[in-house]
Amino acid sequence: MVKKISKNDYQDDLDREEAERPVRWEPIRRPEVRVKQAKKTSYESNADVQRWLKEQGVEVSQPAAFNPTFLSSQRDAPWILSSLTPLYDQELILDILHVVKSGKEATVFCCSAHPDTGLDYLAVKVYRPRMFRSLKNDADYRNNRTQRDEQGRVVHGDNRLRGVARKTARGHAARVTSWIEYEFDTQRKLFQAGVHVPRPLAYVGNAVLMEYVGTEGNAAPLLRDVKLDAAEVEPLFECLLADIELSLVNGRIHGDLSEYNILYWQGAVTIIDFAQAVDTSHDEVFPIFARDIERVCQYFERYGLERDAHQLAAELWTRHMGGRTEDIV
Ligand SMILES: Nc1ncnc2c1ncn2[C@@H]1O[C@H](COP(=O)(O)OP(=O)(O)OP(=O)(O)O)[C@@H](O)[C@H]1O
Ligand SMILES: [Mg+2]
Repeated sequence: MVKKISKNDYQDDLDREEAERPVRWEPIRRPEVRVKQAKKTSYESNADVQRWLKEQGVEVSQPAAFNPTFLSSQRDAPWILSSLTPLYDQELILDILHVVKSGKEATVFCCSAHPDTGLDYLAVKVYRPRMFRSLKNDADYRNNRTQRDEQGRVVHGDNRLRGVARKTARGHAARVTSWIEYEFDTQRKLFQAGVHVPRPLAYVGNAVLMEYVGTEGNAAPLLRDVKLDAAEVEPLFECLLADIELSLVNGRIHGDLSEYNILYWQGAVTIIDFAQAVDTSHDEVFPIFARDIERVCQYFERYGLERDAHQLAAELWTRHMGGRTEDIV
């Protein structure tokens, strides 16, 4: 006969077994708790920056194919890689070769060009992550960068600036979706018009891709770093003045023109850096235009070329902006 074991019998057995078991002291095992090391988070991994890159169509995860060895030594490698991968994917660049210059706001790299571009090398200007702190309103940010007082001096963050920024932002926010796009757009407009600027190829997110001036490892020097032959002085000045005029005709003022933003290569000049360009339709931009001319004149003065900068600026302005002679101060 099979004895039916009741639930109580079973429990009794268990209790007995437990009572008879020799007592053993075992350390209490706690579930393993991993202490997360406080990790320094870089600005590029900031959620806002990543979201912004996504919005700009930048693929944040990198395909293994684009992994330039050059980047292994770079502190900002993930940021640079996520910025430049789209240019690789679009078959514009093949590789990153070296840093041309690392400035406060951006780093310029020399890249080998995809053969389809018809060029050997390309320059890419990659803005730093900290430039994206004003992600919420690029247009405001751009306008903030370009505010100047009556003398054309850049004005930083005081009440006058805020007043002017609001005014210009209102007028231009609708058109200017991003100041990097505006920089690229200005360069493209001027290149098409025949101004001596590097041919712009693309912009994506925080990077502007353009023709590289120079040879590998040997970028064109700035005008400030070369010594001109006497015979080149006047033709180069006239060339720059013609470029300034052509830009004006095409509705743009460089806004930061000087020997620091002009490359010299094989006897020719190339104007770069349109980050501070302004539209000629803005109010009160004559001083900015005049200052560009004044700086160019000042540079050539050292070679004995005497020109009246203000008069030149006023003449060009009257010729092309005729109805707005009241701007001239
Ligand atoms: N297309 C180019 N070909 C060769 N070199 C270039 C090119 N574009 C820029 N550079 C180099 O990179 C430097 C920085 O470029 P750019 O002036 O556009 O940036 P930036 O933000 O004003 O930097 P910085 O504050 O250092 O002037 C230039 O001074 C020049 O030496
Ligand atoms: Mg510059």
